[in-house]
Amino acid sequence: MTYPYTRFLAAKRTVDDRALNSRVLADLRGLLPPGARRVVEIGAGLGTMVARLLEWEVLDSGEYVLLDVDRQLLRDSRGWLCGWAGERGVATELLPDGVRLGELRVRLVEAEVGDHLASGGGEPADLLIANAFLDLVDVPAVLPGLLRLVVPGGAYWFTVNFDGESIFQPDHPADDDVLTAYHRTMDQRVRFGRPAGESRTGRHLFHHLRSAGAPASSVGASDWVVHPGPDGAYPDDEAWFLEAILQTVEDALTGPAAPPGLAGWLAVRRGQLAGGELVYLAHQLDLAGRVPGRRSTPS
Ligand SMILES: C[S@@+](CC[C@H](N)C(=O)[O-])C[C@H]1O[C@@H](n2cnc3c(N)ncnc32)[C@H](O)[C@@H]1O
Repeated sequence: MTYPYTRFLAAKRTVDDRALNSRVLADLRGLLPPGARRVVEIGAGLGTMVARLLEWEVLDSGEYVLLDVDRQLLRDSRGWLCGWAGERGVATELLPDGVRLGELRVRLVEAEVGDHLASGGGEPADLLIANAFLDLVDVPAVLPGLLRLVVPGGAYWFTVNFDGESIFQPDHPADDDVLTAYHRTMDQRVRFGRPAGESRTGRHLFHHLRSAGAPASSVGASDWVVHPGPDGAYPDDEAWFLEAILQTVEDALTGPAAPPGLAGWLAVRRGQLAGGELVYLAHQLDLAGRVPGRRSTPS
């Protein structure tokens, strides 16, 4: 895995496994139609969610569209999914546009979500998923189009939506300056020529969904909590995950946005990471619900 973002998303998997709200997931199971189904995941990255949903027996067959703007991630996705499947004895077959995992056909689609919606969005899904994604887009602008990707009566599961709190421990005197400035960069971010997210997406999503006519029926916290074990070692590849988070803060604040004390703060945090004492928490929310309308009965 030479592409750093690929390693970051792979390392994030165990952090998300712990964070995803199990009650919201149980409620989602109740919203899903039985049998084969079509799932679309936007901003899907490497495809760790499809692996997780197979592992957790939420899905077993049908079609799963993995949409992302990042071509390199989609290239790496095939290999990562085959590696995951190989370790578990799941049969795989490479397809021209994706990979088959057991009875599930995974289709890789390279697209920017705004362009995808503007071009009609393709065949609608029984389930729409966005994990750690909606805080990267202008939700009020994008949500109506996203919900049109779902069949009437279909479900959505919007998870790991950042909600305004990044916490590092132990306390540092520059925490407030650094983290306030970091969150401000999220509110001002522009990508692909569009406003790209905000720092309080989680809490605002509830009412955005109501306004869009698809109120959430299940909501719960999905905070990231990353800490070393008693021996000072971080599990799996989570030390890398933490370094990537520190790098993200550094990249966001390089230049005029840099608060006083940033360099010292980063040096102390990196020292704590190397010494196995850094703890990181991010507050996030999961929401699930149905898109209004009656499902048509399969013939
Ligand atoms: C934080 S990552 C999350 C990836 C994946 N959902 C996961 O949780 O592992 C956000 C993903 O959204 C993709 N992305 C960001 N903005 C996008 C856009 N406007 N259209 C499509 N994909 C986008 C990025 O390439 C990245 O893979």
